[in-house]
This record gives sequence, C-alpha cells and structure tokens, in this order.
Amino acid sequence: MSLAICPGSFDPITLGHLNIIRRTAQIFDDVVVCIMYNSTKTKPMFTIEERVEMVKKVVAKYPNVTVETSSGLLAEYAKKFDNPVIVKGMRAASDFEYEFQMNLINKKINPQLETMFLTASEKYTFLSSSVVREMASYDADLTGFVPCEIIDEIEKKAKLWRR
Ligand code: PNS
Repeated sequence: MSLAICPGSFDPITLGHLNIIRRTAQIFDDVVVCIMYNSTKTKPMFTIEERVEMVKKVVAKYPNVTVETSSGLLAEYAKKFDNPVIVKGMRAASDFEYEFQMNLINKKINPQLETMFLTASEKYTFLSSSVVREMASYDADLTGFVPCEIIDEIEKKAKLWRR
C-alpha cells in the first residue's frame, strides 16, 4: 500500500491545496493530510482544531484521504508510517528554495523519507492562504479561492481577526 502525507498549515485550506490533495489521492492508495505548525507564520487566523474541522469537511468526498494533526517535526511524525512519501505543491520558482531546504532538513532527520512535488495547477499559482486571509479581512468575495463549504466560516472569522 502506498501512502502520501500532505503536510501544511492550511490556515485556511485553499482550492490550490485541495487540488494537490485530490491529485495525490489519485496517485497513492492512502493520503494523510497533516495539519502542522509553521513557526514562521506568527499570526494565525484559525486554531489547529478549526483547521482540522474545515479540512475534514472538504476532503470528506475522497474515501482514501484522512486528516491528522501533529505539533512535532514532520520528519519524526512520518516515522509512524511504512515508507511514506511527503507530497507538496510547487507553485513557482519562489516556492522552490524554501521547499528544497525543508526537504533537505527532513532527510537529515529521517534519511528514508522521500519528498515529491506536484506542480500547482495553472489556475491556482497565484493562490495562498495568506492571500485568502488578506482578502477575507477586506470582506472580498472568496468564491474561486477556497472550497464553497467553508466560505461562511472564513467570512465570520475574518470579522474578528485583525490585519
Ligand atoms: O503550508 P505551509 O505553511 O507551507 O507548511 C509548512 C509545514 C507546516 C509543512 C512546515 O512548517 C513543517 O513541516 N512544520 C512542522 C515542523 C517541522 O518539521 N519543520 C521543519 C524542520 S525545522
């Protein structure tokens, strides 16, 4: 059985993330979406628990996708699976440097761990969670940016969340 881990902070999940998860689920037998802390992102919009609920809602239609969370290192978390592969989306050259560094650090900690990159679908190359948070904070229409099931929740949260 092949297994992929799609890690990320998902604050919140976007249609770009969902596109990567869906395509990963077509390639691997099982996919675990792991919601994790990114220590460089210091002003979260959603708690980890809220993100888990939103991600669960939007991946419910994919039978081989499950959602977990971990507060530890990705490379350590991956050790609980048998030959897992980390799958991440790559939007543009600007993503490459960071992702390449993460891949090398993960390999140092867990040499067996492989990382694969899926190129983002062209229509989502502009999209990121930070763009969504920014747009939401200006009450912009989020249609086409995030899954429709979670738009209301993001709009509600944006009213409480300060830029
Ligand atoms: O969606 P993001 O914010 O690009 O995802 C980054 C994430 C959460 C995958 C990354 O920050 C991560 O792996 N966090 C867990 C801690 C860790 O393993 N850090 C890398 C080694 S220092």
